[in-house]
Amino acid sequence: MTKITKAVFPVAGLGSRFLPATKAQPKEMLPIVDQPLIQYAVEEAVEAGITEMIFITGRNKRAIEDHFDKAYELEAELEAAGKDELLRMVRGVIPKQVNCMYIRQPQALGLGHAVLCARPIVGSDPFAVLLADDFMQGERNGPGVMAQMTSAFEREQASLLAVQDVPREHTRQYGIVSTEAFADRLEKVKGIVEKPMPEKAPSTLAVVGRYVLTNRIFGCLEKLGTGAGGEIQLTDGIEALMQYETVLSYRYQGRRFDCGSKLGYLQASVEIGLQHAETGAAFAKWLSNRQSA
Ligand code: UTP
Repeated sequence: MTKITKAVFPVAGLGSRFLPATKAQPKEMLPIVDQPLIQYAVEEAVEAGITEMIFITGRNKRAIEDHFDKAYELEAELEAAGKDELLRMVRGVIPKQVNCMYIRQPQALGLGHAVLCARPIVGSDPFAVLLADDFMQGERNGPGVMAQMTSAFEREQASLLAVQDVPREHTRQYGIVSTEAFADRLEKVKGIVEKPMPEKAPSTLAVVGRYVLTNRIFGCLEKLGTGAGGEIQLTDGIEALMQYETVLSYRYQGRRFDCGSKLGYLQASVEIGLQHAETGAAFAKWLSNRQSA
């Protein structure tokens, strides 16, 4: 039985919806309360048993590399000042068993191209893909979304796409699948189309930013030309993959915030602010006073 040990984090997008905040840093470094989006995604992968983190970075790569690297000066200063709790937090950003690797995507040619850039490190293994701007939370006390998907992969040994139902008027923002029943929460993907108009969408089942893919995807991506929006689309690679092997969609348990959009980012900030051990109670009080004001 093959287990998933590698995760790819494409972080080389332009993040144009968040300019100017993303002028000099990737959008995945935007914080939700006190952690950048990318750290939540890495924690989700760690919880799923993944140890090899592969970041596909772009021109603003430094912030992410620095975030997961040792910060000698900061750690020395915190240690000298006796700020043990902060020191523990800074050192705990990445667990010891986890390795971080970085590959540069020279041009933002699309998500499919970003995933293809991971090929030299991923090799012949199946692997996870996490888009950190899709902020995912499992159900309270339940497993995270990637942990749900890696255990489904261990059972099925087939590529998996996380999906959720969206309002029909939103199909233009997603890859949309048509499916047939397979097993609990799993459906067999019969067709996939990138950003269809609502009247043309084959369903309202949308692919969100979590995937487990077999390495055959690389051969499929390599042969692709540009697709929707002039980009090399992961969706088109998955459509090609379906000619060779079963691809399953997985209705995840939990919630998703689209932090690539301003509204989703604000919603995630409020939700996590309310759940936060340090700020939650005071923030809830402030919000309720504010609403009644
Ligand atoms: P998006 O479609 O959200 O694009 O990418 P974007 O460029 O990041 O943001 P906007 O639309 O301009 O605001 C989805 C994911 O794919 C990555 C992004 O970093 C994001 O995680 N991506 C996209 C790449 O790594 N490389 C690319 O060429 C395109």
